[in-house]
Amino acid sequence: MEKFGDIKHICECLKITEFEMKQAISENNLKTFEEVTDYFRTTWACGDCFNDIKAAIEEIKNPDFK
Ligand code: FES
Repeated sequence: MEKFGDIKHICECLKITEFEMKQAISENNLKTFEEVTDYFRTTWACGDCFNDIKAAIEEIKNPDFK
C-alpha cells in the first residue's frame, strides 16, 4: 500500500521515478518507446512498466504538457 511521502517509481525493477523518466524524455528529446527503453535499459526486466512508459512519452509529446 502506497503511503504519503512514498516515491512513485514508473519502473519498480530499476527504481526509476516518474519525474526522472519524464525529465530524461524531455531533456534527451526521446520520442519513441524504444528510445526510452534503450536510454534506461528497461526492457530486460519484468516489463510491467511498458504502458506507463508509453503514457509518459505521450504526456511529454502533448503540447499542453507543462
Ligand atoms: S517495472 Fe520496469 S521493467 Fe519491471
